[in-house]
Amino acid sequence: MRIDIITVLPELLKSPFEASILKRAIEAKLVEVHLHNLRDYTTDNYKSVDDYQFGGGAGMVMMIEPIDKCISKLKEERIYDEIIYMTPDGKPLNQSMANMLSLKKNIIILCGHYKGVDQRVRDTFITKEISIGDYVLSGGELGAAVLCDAIIRLLPGVLGNETSALTDSFQDNLLAPPIYTRPRNYKGMKVPEILFSGNFPEIEKWREQQAYKRTQERRPDLLKD
Ligand code: ADE
Repeated sequence: MRIDIITVLPELLKSPFEASILKRAIEAKLVEVHLHNLRDYTTDNYKSVDDYQFGGGAGMVMMIEPIDKCISKLKEERIYDEIIYMTPDGKPLNQSMANMLSLKKNIIILCGHYKGVDQRVRDTFITKEISIGDYVLSGGELGAAVLCDAIIRLLPGVLGNETSALTDSFQDNLLAPPIYTRPRNYKGMKVPEILFSGNFPEIEKWREQQAYKRTQERRPDLLKD
């Protein structure tokens, strides 16, 4: 998989890919992540990427021209399955969207800034608009990092144990059950006995019950689907 990220703040997107699972996925060539500085696609001396809103109003708007230049250049080089715009008014990111996007070959992620991009960018180039939650960030970069993490960890071979993404919260619309490790008894806080029974069908049943209970208590909305 290849992910191209278009941003005015590439420095903000370096470190997420320089540690842990994402770094290993890149080193193992399971994914390529390319950062593109939108200012490299400007034509004026000031390297302007934004301008005032037509019709008045507070806040600057990202201009179409540098974005068009950058996306057009990328599209000359390869075919993209999705061109995603990170924005608080996009579709809220969830596990099934991450699963779907992890199956794509090439995607572009455009990070919004200021008040956002000229509507014509959204109308012309964008195939999906994604929000990472109902709050406003100062730009789309952290959202893009979240989206990339959610996608990349699902790519075959990225997680050591292939089954571990399958038992994540949300994979079956349930939150994950409680988990425990050593010691068996810590200052009187004991691990549930069932986990030492060696009866794996019963353990699995217990985990399902716990996942269901936790989902009902914390996220009953997930059980409605
Ligand atoms: N840009 C600003 N806020 C955002 C959000 N909540 N999700 C995605 N991109 C954003």
